[in-house]
Amino acid sequence: MSGVGSLFAETHEAAREEIAPGAFVLRGFALSMGTAVLGALREVTAAAPFRNMVTPGGYRMSVAMTNCGALGWVTDRNGYRYDSVDPESGKKWPAMPGAFRELAERAAAEAGFREFRPDACLINRYEPEAKLSLHQDKDERDFTQPIVSVSLGIPAIFLFGGFVRGDKTQRVPLEHGDVVVWGGPARLRYHGVMTLKEDEHPLLGRMRVNLTFRTAG
Ligand code: SIN
Ligand code: FE2
Repeated sequence: MSGVGSLFAETHEAAREEIAPGAFVLRGFALSMGTAVLGALREVTAAAPFRNMVTPGGYRMSVAMTNCGALGWVTDRNGYRYDSVDPESGKKWPAMPGAFRELAERAAAEAGFREFRPDACLINRYEPEAKLSLHQDKDERDFTQPIVSVSLGIPAIFLFGGFVRGDKTQRVPLEHGDVVVWGGPARLRYHGVMTLKEDEHPLLGRMRVNLTFRTAG
């Protein structure tokens, strides 16, 4: 490879932080596609508004959620599941916007998962004081496919743990445009989000939005 090519590769490499085997933080990866992603986000949430779902145990979640793509993740008194229909509207979830799919597939490839084809995008909205308890993403059928998680808006501390809930967690600060990809040996690691601090983002206001792409079906 010539000088310029190898320099570029090194710069690129430096932006990819491995936080555990199979788990990577891609700093600022979504920034170049930001405008298209935010426009698409507005369209999706107009068709399927954010709502605070109830856990099987009867607690209303502090994180508001919606979905796009063929399948959407839902929780209610009956449990967690993927459903092609939004229970609030009785209609299919909005299609996954091209800008979302492209971002998710490019990020996955950057982390070494070149075959990733997401069919589900869970959209989480955190306001200050909201948090997401440690959990595993395990309602999907095929664990050979990674999770791609895009952070937008105000910053958060992502907790990345081990394979049992009580394992030590790393605190990973995430900002607007950062993408986390975990798959392979990291696919079933516990993770969560610490209580968000009061803050304001120039594009999204007092809000953090997280797009989580999965192959669910
Ligand atoms: C999730 O685990 O579904 C979301 C993680 C995040 O908001 O960063
Ligand atoms: Fe998760």
